[in-house]
Amino acid sequence: MIPLNDFQRQWDEIRADVLAAVETVGSSGWYILGGEVAAFEKALAEQWGLGHSVGVASGLDAIEISLKALGCGAGDAVLTTPLSAFATTLAIVKLGAIPVFADCDQYGLIDLEQCREILRARPDIRYFVPVHLYGQSLDLAALRSLRDEFDLRIVEDCAQSILATSGGLPTGSVGQMAATSFYPTKNLGAFGDGGAILTNDEALAARVRCLRDYGQSSKYRHSEIGYNSRLDELQAALLRRVQLPRLTGWTEHRGLVAARYNTGLRHARIRPMGSPRDSNSCWHLYPVMVDAERKRDFLSWLKSQGVGAGEHYPIVMPDQCALKNAAHQSIGECAQARKIALGEVSLPIHPYLTEEEIGRVIEVCNRWGG
Ligand SMILES: Cc1ncc(COP(=O)(O)O)c(C=O)c1O
Repeated sequence: MIPLNDFQRQWDEIRADVLAAVETVGSSGWYILGGEVAAFEKALAEQWGLGHSVGVASGLDAIEISLKALGCGAGDAVLTTPLSAFATTLAIVKLGAIPVFADCDQYGLIDLEQCREILRARPDIRYFVPVHLYGQSLDLAALRSLRDEFDLRIVEDCAQSILATSGGLPTGSVGQMAATSFYPTKNLGAFGDGGAILTNDEALAARVRCLRDYGQSSKYRHSEIGYNSRLDELQAALLRRVQLPRLTGWTEHRGLVAARYNTGLRHARIRPMGSPRDSNSCWHLYPVMVDAERKRDFLSWLKSQGVGAGEHYPIVMPDQCALKNAAHQSIGECAQARKIALGEVSLPIHPYLTEEEIGRVIEVCNRWGG
């Protein structure tokens, strides 16, 4: 089977470095919020090209805490996408805020033109959580123009977009805050849960540092109601010492795989999702579209031929059972998001895919009865 991700091969490469990092943390006797977290935060901010980074327990928490730091709370309307991991919406709902779903564009990214119309009609919307889905960057120039025109407080969901750029700028550089995830399948994955908040604003960085640690401003002094959402020393050490130095190389390999798929896939009914103008994907995923009524057949075909595949994401947010009793709004039918939910299939893409496996995935796709 050619898996979507290959942690076995990753382990073979990184084992010695992982064990050395564990030894370092174990022998230090310091396991929560110490030198490893601080050093990782500094390294991540430098790599990302943003001023500050604050490690937290997950990508979900990174979004929620960022929104809270921007002042978002119960009853606030938050514009967001119907097509994402559920965590994007959950972070909003957990604050008692109200997700307002706009539709997507052809790339599966929130439609910024429709957002402009919505924001014109809805001056009550002050918060925005766009998602750089699949590793593709939204048009950051367009996002900046929305931010300025409507004085928006933006948390960019960069869980899938580390190293992706638009107009030469990194995702996360337009919103007041960016949230990312180190869930193991992410391009920069931990060995368990983890996340980070990035920002150029020093005061906001200080606020989220306080919020992640019970709202503790100095020892035993709690200035506000916060969270227990701390990145572990162990995860920080593994991220900085093992994973981060390999990220650029791993991302380049993902780019090579994507380039081979882009040129090799020659099936009229398998349509690569493509990339927005002037953007560089970090190829977290390689999504293709097939006709909705043929998707199950395509998935079974891939499976029968030993090719792993995924669906990102088959159910749009407004249709999730969990939202039945939670306030939310959809603008229109979210028709494009629904179309993608029904027809999207993700092909294997990871740093350890060999030339032979890439060729095999292409050949299997091209041989599908369609
Ligand atoms: C787009 C997106 N947002 C948020 C999250 C949440 O991250 P985590 O699983 O670390 O809470 C994820 C990952 O699952 C994601 O893919």
